Amino acid sequence: MKIYKSISEFITWRNSCLEQNVGFVPTMGALHQGHLSLVEQSKRHCKKTVVSIFVNELQFAPEEDFKEYPRPLEADLKHLKTLKVDVVFLPTTQEMYADDFSVIVNELKISQRLEGGVRPGFFSGVTTVVSKLFNLVRPSHSYFGMKDIQQLRVIKKLVEDLNFNIQIIGCKTIREDSGLAMSSRNQYLSNQEKQEAAILYEALQVGEGLFQENKDYKTIKQSMYTYVGENSKIKIDYLSIAQLESFEELINLTNHDKTNVVISGAIFFNNVRLIDNIIIQ
Ligand code: PAJ
Repeated sequence: MKIYKSISEFITWRNSCLEQNVGFVPTMGALHQGHLSLVEQSKRHCKKTVVSIFVNELQFAPEEDFKEYPRPLEADLKHLKTLKVDVVFLPTTQEMYADDFSVIVNELKISQRLEGGVRPGFFSGVTTVVSKLFNLVRPSHSYFGMKDIQQLRVIKKLVEDLNFNIQIIGCKTIREDSGLAMSSRNQYLSNQEKQEAAILYEALQVGEGLFQENKDYKTIKQSMYTYVGENSKIKIDYLSIAQLESFEELINLTNHDKTNVVISGAIFFNNVRLIDNIIIQ
């Protein structure tokens, strides 16, 4: 497994790689089984697999956890070596964002809603860094998790609208036994808290059940809010029933079509931000 910490070293490798089929998994590290499932898919489908680990400051708001974000590099590299990844790319912030860096890539519709609504600047940070990484890695395929369903949709739109010649593959959400979606931020939680934090997924399942019973929007939303129930530990950021392509709220659920719906939510559990979703297709 080759490890490149500078852009120039990485480009030298990329220019020498004649393989057509290059799979790419961008990550911010603190790798867990969710990340590794993307790597496994890339390994299955592509001749070469590149994984990047880069904690992208541009997608964190000033009050968010950029500084505390876990960076267990040695453990991450061990996982990737076990999976026989070909190349790990570890660019530095200085190289990715020079002092006079002044170009941002912005998606203007989908990214204004839900996650983008409550985390302004988040998606432009993601689309900017992913565009840079796509230009550097030049993959044929790139793998993203459905846990971050809105991010996956925004990346698909980025690739479509800016003509990146890359196939984007969405991979299913990997969960703990409790149902809690795996996340690097789960490391901030104790085992007991991880059990309790499954309440988000449970609430989404409640929503899904009511949706299948043709209940109206207000009833479903109310039931999900009640199920989570805010208290000293839990604050709800949003709970949503939206159209899967546009992420527009399906307020008028009476004539909804039964497919392409995403029930999603974000909560703070003891100040740790967790997101999850269920897709109805
Ligand atoms: P990060 O949170 O490290 O996630 C990297 C990839 O792993 C994303 O595509 C994410 O959706 C996927 N992933 C995370 N948890 C998952 C789970 N439980 N099951 C399946 N896939 C999961 O997302 C980012 O980093 C960044 O925004 C990035 C795209 C790297 C840009 O900085």
